[in-house]
Amino acid sequence: MSTESLKTITGKRIILGVTGGIAAYKIAELVRLFKKAGAEVQVLMTPNAEKFVTPLTLGTLSEREILTGIFPENETGSWTKHVALGLWGDLYVIAPATAQTMAKLATGMVDSMLTAVALAGRCPVLICPAMDHDMYEHGATQKSLSVLRDLGYEVMEARHGELASGLIGLGRLPEPQEIFDRAVDKLHEIALERQGELAGKKVLVSAGPTREAIDPVRFISNHSTGTMGYEIAAAAARRGADVILVSGPTSLDVPHGVNRVDVVTAAEMFTGMKAHSSADYTFMVAAVADFRPTAEADSKIKKDAGFDGISVEPTTDILASLGAAKNENQVLVGFAMETEDAVSNARSKLERKNLDWIVVNDLREPGAGFGTGTNAVTILGRDGSESNIPVMAKREIAEALLDHVLADLR
Ligand code: CTP
Repeated sequence: MSTESLKTITGKRIILGVTGGIAAYKIAELVRLFKKAGAEVQVLMTPNAEKFVTPLTLGTLSEREILTGIFPENETGSWTKHVALGLWGDLYVIAPATAQTMAKLATGMVDSMLTAVALAGRCPVLICPAMDHDMYEHGATQKSLSVLRDLGYEVMEARHGELASGLIGLGRLPEPQEIFDRAVDKLHEIALERQGELAGKKVLVSAGPTREAIDPVRFISNHSTGTMGYEIAAAAARRGADVILVSGPTSLDVPHGVNRVDVVTAAEMFTGMKAHSSADYTFMVAAVADFRPTAEADSKIKKDAGFDGISVEPTTDILASLGAAKNENQVLVGFAMETEDAVSNARSKLERKNLDWIVVNDLREPGAGFGTGTNAVTILGRDGSESNIPVMAKREIAEALLDHVLADLR
């Protein structure tokens, strides 16, 4: 990827938190700049922000519903939006940030969607304080700023100039163009960091279905298209890894920067995976057949000869075999397709197969599973953790999964 292509923010997802200060009116211009540059913008407002700029203005410019409260207005709606948004955003910009909101953020208080997303989110935060000079210089505000910096937030210092109170001093919000420029640079820095994150690491991914021949024209297989595994391989390659993709039959192109090993049967997939089992990270995404016909008929089974069933035998559980052989520096991620008791069944697979993570697809969840462009998964960790990734494009699920697995090792 060229440096130039990283500079673009087309398709980047920006969460824009607006709090209740007079400078909130300037945010309309900031939303416009982000949108014009092709970014998606989700505005979150505190109730006080609505006194300075209307949700209708920011909602119209951002083309998205403005979120304020943490609980849905419709009582039957989902209340995990803060988690979904936290995973969705590439960058969280809070502008203007009032002294009150910064104090809440510094102490981890959650009383709005804006503060909840700050805690639930994984993306970097750029905070742009704006207030009256004396409030800005006050020890309490400076203390919040110092805590926020320690927490890893980037603070764009308030500017010197004329303030709404008529006083002259430090406290002005940087101009929307300055905030925009800093946000673009920051997104660029994040992309560069990610690009090298897996440099020097070997990532092994399996994808797609396997086919187990019954006779020369028929086989046992499943509905897997391979998309999820291909997206994980592509995402790992984008982060600089040396990626081997052991793939069953699919119609997908080899992702850029990925080395593909083509296989057909579960036995071939086992051989392909074993050959690269020294990988630092292994993602066993393939839908491997659990059973194969005991013997493949030499010639086509003819209808007239009658058919009295297929005798089958189990295939090797590739993942369990990789789990049994892995060392403590290797990270092994399995997938589980479930239709009942998804989480508890998957957790027992994690234990049984000695995995670090298991990614659960609940096939009954709308938008999840085979043949869809989207997926929704739950990631279970060996440490007992459980994280939900809501319905997203499979490419985004792949990025979120890598973020999750890598964050644990940082
Ligand atoms: N898997 C494997 N080898 C097999 C079967 C499955 O490596 N012969 C892997 C899959 O790639 C997946 C994980 O095991 O990462 C779980 O697969 P799944 O089909 O959900 O579970 P199974 O172990 O086959 O158990 P069950 O069919 O009873 O749910």
